[in-house]
Amino acid sequence: FINTVVFENSTLGSIAVAREIASVIQFKQKNNEFCILGLATGSSPKRLYAELVRLHKEEGLSFKNVITFNLDEYYPMEQDSINSYVRFMKELLFNQVDILPENIHIPDGTLSKEDIADYCATYESMIEKLGGIDLQILGIGGNGHIGFNESGSLQNSKTRLVALDHITRVAASGDFLGLSNTPRTAITLGVKKIMEAKQVILMAWGEGKANIIKASVEGTVTNLIPASFLQVHKNAVFVLDKEASSKL
Ligand code: GLP
Repeated sequence: FINTVVFENSTLGSIAVAREIASVIQFKQKNNEFCILGLATGSSPKRLYAELVRLHKEEGLSFKNVITFNLDEYYPMEQDSINSYVRFMKELLFNQVDILPENIHIPDGTLSKEDIADYCATYESMIEKLGGIDLQILGIGGNGHIGFNESGSLQNSKTRLVALDHITRVAASGDFLGLSNTPRTAITLGVKKIMEAKQVILMAWGEGKANIIKASVEGTVTNLIPASFLQVHKNAVFVLDKEASSKL
């Protein structure tokens, strides 16, 4: 089983997660240490990022000691494309807080194919050199994917180029004006680095996530549902709204 915390709605859940992130950042600040955050995209963390921006602007939360590693990016993907996760992160968070540009890491969707393997190995070794991820934020795909670790991803999978599931592409196709324009591949942090994070918070909102949340929290640990691996993580919590938790 995975610890779950249920909130009345996604706004209250997001505010609670923002507070937790702020307390980790501030604890590290007191000790003159960097805080290594693993960040996610998708609709689930949008309200969280708005709250972090508010904490920065209204309550003086500083991101000067924060180093971020995003989970994933479509491949291929230009950074200034409307659907790039680089653009998403800049608009919703990075351009609105005082994080140093050199402390931001997002998988590069512009690489040539032959460079991807080396790039992914370097991405992981940067995380390792910093002592690992302190706090990993996750959403969950309708099929149980975390990052873009689709069904079948192994618990020790590395950061890599992956083929997106049909169901994932269908879910994204609205953003890309149709399935034929939707990328077929992506670069994702592997399950291993996610599992090595010292703390993991997965957020899920709405009735549409209720079935996959039940399967991930209460079902068998299986690579068919990568989120179920979090059952064996020592410090993972699912933050849910009433609807997403309704089948538990
Ligand atoms: C995408 C992202 C995932 C995210 C998932 C769920 O596939 N790569 O990291 O968790 O979508 O998205 P949403 O939060 O919009 O439901």
